[in-house]
Amino acid sequence: MTARPRLSHHMARGTAFLGCELAILGGAMSWVSERNLVAAISNAGGFGVIACGAMPVDLLDAEIAATKALTDKPFGVNLITMHPDLFALIDVCARHKVGHVVLAGGLPPKGSIEAIKASGAAVICFAPTLAMGKKLARSGVDALVIEGMEAGGHIGPVSTSVLAQEILPDLADELPIFVAGGIARGEAIAAFLEMGAAGVQLGTRFVCAHESIAHPDFKRAFLRASARDAVASVQIDPRLPVIPVRALKNAGTEAFTAKQVEVAQLLDQGAIDMGEAQLQIETYWAGALRRAVIDGDVENGSLMAGQSVGMVKAEEPVADILRALADEAESAFVSRG
Ligand SMILES: Cc1cc2nc3c(=O)[nH]c(=O)nc-3n(C[C@H](O)[C@H](O)[C@H](O)COP(=O)(O)O)c2cc1C
Repeated sequence: MTARPRLSHHMARGTAFLGCELAILGGAMSWVSERNLVAAISNAGGFGVIACGAMPVDLLDAEIAATKALTDKPFGVNLITMHPDLFALIDVCARHKVGHVVLAGGLPPKGSIEAIKASGAAVICFAPTLAMGKKLARSGVDALVIEGMEAGGHIGPVSTSVLAQEILPDLADELPIFVAGGIARGEAIAAFLEMGAAGVQLGTRFVCAHESIAHPDFKRAFLRASARDAVASVQIDPRLPVIPVRALKNAGTEAFTAKQVEVAQLLDQGAIDMGEAQLQIETYWAGALRRAVIDGDVENGSLMAGQSVGMVKAEEPVADILRALADEAESAFVSRG
């Protein structure tokens, strides 16, 4: 790989932690981050992460094995904390000696951090606030991702720039922190590294990679979109708290409003409880994303995308995307002196 001394220096902690050349994680994206994209990112010097999503245990087992067949470089697995078989999924990762497990979708359940660490793997968690970041650090988590509301998919309420300023000065010395949400150029990567980040995580920027299996129509929607097309879903009923999802506007956006009305009515009638209501909402998203990513139904499916979608201009190989990001970051360090 090209020598980029300043970038390598600033990324040293992240690359040592991940075991790769560039401290750039390919953020796990359900249906998109499967063997091909994950292996391509890791083979090109980044760090690919498999999105387990709602996959059953045997499918994750097969996906990890297939990814190992495509790369001998390290990669991670992202597990959703509310998966009913979380501990069996952790066992599968352990059997495959996956080195890094990312826990997403809420607080890690009791025993999960310990179970992952017992297998020898590093645990990476999302920190939505400084207080939570401190708590996770105390619980033995090895690294954190802080993800702003510019990101694609499920989002929190705070922007990347504010989270970075709130969390990096207090916690960056304690453990490696990867910044995510709205990053599509190397200049921004350089800025977060200078603020103390160990590295970054990008999702949207990798969707249109050659190696991504996303449907051609899904990629076309990304190539056409600008930042303002990637909007957060709206909660229509105060009794039904739904985690907002950022996606490109389409007919599916309205269908989600209708789905919320339907679920809220079932809640009112006492036909379902809050847990079941939230499960129905999450199942809805998983299905809608699959319809768009795999089947190419870009009208009715969910086009989860971050605001950085406006900077996705072409379908290109993962290696070119990573090279551009690294070159831009190195140039930024050089010009800043
Ligand atoms: C289509 C799509 C699907 C996603 N699915 C997941 C997921 O299953 N689990 C997860 O932790 N994050 C998911 N994310 C978030 C990404 O992992 C990543 O953190 C995010 O895309 C970073 O922000 P960016 O999109 O601005 O680059 C998804 C993002 C997108 C765009």
